[in-house]
Amino acid sequence: MVSLTLACSAVAQPIIRNTANGLEATENGVHLQITALQDDKLRIREWRVSAPEDASWAVLPGSRTSLVDVTEDQSGFHTDKLAIEVKDGLHLVIRDKQGHILQEDSGPVQWRGDAFHVYKTRGENEHFFGLGDKPGPLDRSGQTFTLWNTDSFGWQESTDPIYKSIPFFIDVKDGRSFGVFFDNTWRTSFDFGHENDQEYNFGSQGGPIDYYFLYGPDPKDVIKGYAWLTGTASLPPLWSFGFQQSRYTYTPESQLMDVAAHLRRDKIPADALWLDIDFQKNNMPFTVDEQRFPKFPEMVNKLADDHFHLVVIADTHIAEKPNTDYLPYDTGMAGDHFVKNPDGTTYVGTVWPGPSVFPDYTQARTRQWFGTLYKDFVADGVAGFWNDMNEPAVFRYPSKTMPLETQHHIDEPGFLKRTASQREIHNIYGLLNSKATYDGVLKLRPNERPYVMTRATYAGGQRYAVTWTGDNSSTWNHLRMTIPQLTNLGLSGFSFAGADVGGFAGSPPADLLTKWLEVAAFQPIDRDHSAKGTRMHEPWVDGPEQEALRKRYIEERYRLLPYLYTVAEETSRNGMPMMRPLFVEFPHATADGNPMDLLTGGAEYMLGPSLLIAPNPSPEEVAEYELHLPPGIWYDYWTGKPAGSADTLKARDAEVRDALLQQQRIMLKPDLATVPVFVRGGAILPLQPLVQSTDETPQGPLTLRVYVPRAGEVCQGDVYTDDGHSLNYRSGQFYRLHISCTTKQDDTLSIEFKAPEGIYQPWFKQIRVEVTGQAHVPSHATINGRTTTIQSNHGVVSVTIPLPNAESRLTMQ
Ligand code: NOJ
Repeated sequence: MVSLTLACSAVAQPIIRNTANGLEATENGVHLQITALQDDKLRIREWRVSAPEDASWAVLPGSRTSLVDVTEDQSGFHTDKLAIEVKDGLHLVIRDKQGHILQEDSGPVQWRGDAFHVYKTRGENEHFFGLGDKPGPLDRSGQTFTLWNTDSFGWQESTDPIYKSIPFFIDVKDGRSFGVFFDNTWRTSFDFGHENDQEYNFGSQGGPIDYYFLYGPDPKDVIKGYAWLTGTASLPPLWSFGFQQSRYTYTPESQLMDVAAHLRRDKIPADALWLDIDFQKNNMPFTVDEQRFPKFPEMVNKLADDHFHLVVIADTHIAEKPNTDYLPYDTGMAGDHFVKNPDGTTYVGTVWPGPSVFPDYTQARTRQWFGTLYKDFVADGVAGFWNDMNEPAVFRYPSKTMPLETQHHIDEPGFLKRTASQREIHNIYGLLNSKATYDGVLKLRPNERPYVMTRATYAGGQRYAVTWTGDNSSTWNHLRMTIPQLTNLGLSGFSFAGADVGGFAGSPPADLLTKWLEVAAFQPIDRDHSAKGTRMHEPWVDGPEQEALRKRYIEERYRLLPYLYTVAEETSRNGMPMMRPLFVEFPHATADGNPMDLLTGGAEYMLGPSLLIAPNPSPEEVAEYELHLPPGIWYDYWTGKPAGSADTLKARDAEVRDALLQQQRIMLKPDLATVPVFVRGGAILPLQPLVQSTDETPQGPLTLRVYVPRAGEVCQGDVYTDDGHSLNYRSGQFYRLHISCTTKQDDTLSIEFKAPEGIYQPWFKQIRVEVTGQAHVPSHATINGRTTTIQSNHGVVSVTIPLPNAESRLTMQ
């Protein structure tokens, strides 16, 4: 029998003990501990009986133990940014310095045995984002979610849970944002006002009440705060931003080589090819089927000569094949590395190769051993690894995973050495699998960036792997869903993410595959992948007309690589995602403080700070659709023509501002050949000449497209580059150029180049500055006071200058 205990059932008042960095409060045997990590970041823990183990798989140790001094108040404390009050019933209220309530308990914590729920009040205009790639609308309001990593082949819009557990959400209310990271690895749940629209709650079936409150007020502050807490994604190699072609499975070798040759023959730029499970002998991880791939190392070399990087699958399970010289099994058994049954025997479950065993990654030594299994592939020159089926997926059980009683043995610095059941470890299994891979590959190829793609993960997993949204379907609705999924993933730490282009399950009709390839050109990972038994997906399969459209978008992605890579580097530094919902860039766009994305249904998104991507929100419809431009002036990316402008940010009067925002509405007619893309006035976009792969050095100057802002406003942009593959950028081997510009009333445009940072020599020796939106065609230009030539080509005015090696100024008038 479970009993229900309400923490506030008695009239007792809390006994509060203030500490230098927060407070401890006790009431009716329940303990509340609030610690200020920084002025805008709190850690909140609550327990009965005794304090739970203080350890985390997700939070960086330095952040978890960070402390800031606080000032005591009558029933709480304050920091420089937040005021915390604890009322009777351990009722917690968090306010900003202006006294606005940011978060307030709506009732006491409810326990049912080891399970518990934390309740907070929810305002009418409170919106929720994050929780990784859970399908459904961008805004999580009004819905419930379960976090339990699940192999979900063919998931649909209302399927929950799917593969990942990222218990982090961003709350946006009245124009103020904060984040909550609930650090609990058990099966957790979130209800954002579904059961009761005045409340939201989160809870778990076990483990600690341990959550972090990360204040904004701007969404970017929250995102950076979450990166500070759980780490940033490491910068992937440049080639991974190129086009990637995959299939389950290209086999035999000749089929893979034909795909490679076809891409090059048709001049479709591409950087990577992927091999799925059928390249292995009987689907056994870390083997190669020598019948079908008789000369694997030579093949990898040939591909490399043709500038293709090969990524191979490496599932988490190890085939149970004793006495067959299958080293992963033999060495794993010898080292006692596998998950156990409660009786101490090795757990065996069925996956692709048949009976299989599962590494127990909660032991640091097991992760080290698993990392060594990549040795041969690394020696062969395989460029990246794909960690699949790591929920972990196990066939033949209705639960699709191993029994909850299977045993892990935690043996990890910072943790108590103890046995833990699958109930506790399940949601971090994928995270630890990708950590083992990342660390192992880095050790085998020191100083080279490991490229790991994982399906299952937990918060913090961005430090080790990129991800994708698993087994989607070849439907128009799945194409549409890629946007809220990828933007929510980005808000949850996973900026480097993609969806199977064309859809995994099913066969896309030609126009769907075309549109998908077009849209995915503006998403962080552009990987075309498809299931066994479906029709082929490569760009050429529907004839030359469709291929030409598809190729044009892939080519545009390659031209934009300097911008994509610059944005990616920002992710790796401060967590800002590549794909951003509009409210992240324009948090004050609406008068009522509601996220602007409510107007667009989450269909539009920003790619970095400068590009607005606006595919049809109902991609299969042919009717016109409404586009909402955020405040400011905008240019059509394809034509350079002004697209709309309104002084929305400047208008003080709320109604005027909203009316102006409404004017920024454009009706667009969908057409198969176009994805509408707009550039923010004031942006500086770096582009490069077309190449066929990132191995190729672009010929010619780097282009900087300057999109003129309104008179008196500044514009700015950055260019970041490095060698694209090593970790040398961490020790200064990079090149970063910051550019800004101003316009004067007389239409003079003045562009300032800061002295470049870093000691890396970029591939470009010259910069071609193109200006869009200047009222008059400039007739005179100077660089550092000396006159320079203005070129005009098809109406595009440009100036080409040598690479500035010190602070420089270009004027055009
Ligand atoms: C499941 C993965 O989600 C899919 O992408 C892959 O092709 C199959 N496993 C086969 O490995």
